[in-house]
Amino acid sequence: MLSFFKSKPFLKDLLAGDYVDIHSHLLPGIDDGAKTIKKTIKLAKAFQELGISQFITTPHISHYVWNNSEQDILNKLEETQIVLKDENITIPFKAAAEYFIDDWFENHLKSEKLLTLKDNYVLVEISYLSAPLNLYKIIFDIQLAGYIPVLAHPERYFYFHKNFTEYEKLKKSGCLFQLNLLAVMGYYGSEITKTAELLLKKGMYDFTGTDVHHSIHIESLHQKIKIDSVSILKEVIANNQFFQF
Ligand SMILES: [Fe+2]
Repeated sequence: MLSFFKSKPFLKDLLAGDYVDIHSHLLPGIDDGAKTIKKTIKLAKAFQELGISQFITTPHISHYVWNNSEQDILNKLEETQIVLKDENITIPFKAAAEYFIDDWFENHLKSEKLLTLKDNYVLVEISYLSAPLNLYKIIFDIQLAGYIPVLAHPERYFYFHKNFTEYEKLKKSGCLFQLNLLAVMGYYGSEITKTAELLLKKGMYDFTGTDVHHSIHIESLHQKIKIDSVSILKEVIANNQFFQF
């Protein structure tokens, strides 16, 4: 009862200085994240100040919008690592990708080696407008190709909010869930915060990510969290240690 009146913690205090982030858009000029290397530098410094100890940044690979190849990302990573080192930014980081599930991806995953977060863990997202008609077939194909799908920000897919059994079906099909920390900051609005809290309470999240694109996201992450399930959130944040490199 009293917890309702208790002041909520700052996210920074929950990150506890050793958080490993697995979702962001910090490589410059290749997607809707950091537009320039200057912005990349600013965001990487901000990550350090937030208590992020390492990060795996994940540019979009969405063929019809952000047509990045795996090699494009690795090249950009190398360039960026050199510049950040020159700037004395010491936070370790590497790159994977956030794959948009569509017909192109369905073929791509059969012929190309995907950029993974670690081992065979691959970060995927789906449309915000509607779920792919063959979603479960694609999830199966991802697994058949030897990968474990980690679905980015399930709380952001509005069409699942009133259809909660889809979340259960997705989990049963072997999909792991990555919570966007911005959702528990209220950044995407109250409906998404509520869904995030419900998914937390049901123990459905496996990992978390910041999904930082720009400095407004950083400002939001400096606030107090907006949900009550603090201890569950802490556990899911701690799960990210799995990705330490
Ligand atoms: Fe993202």
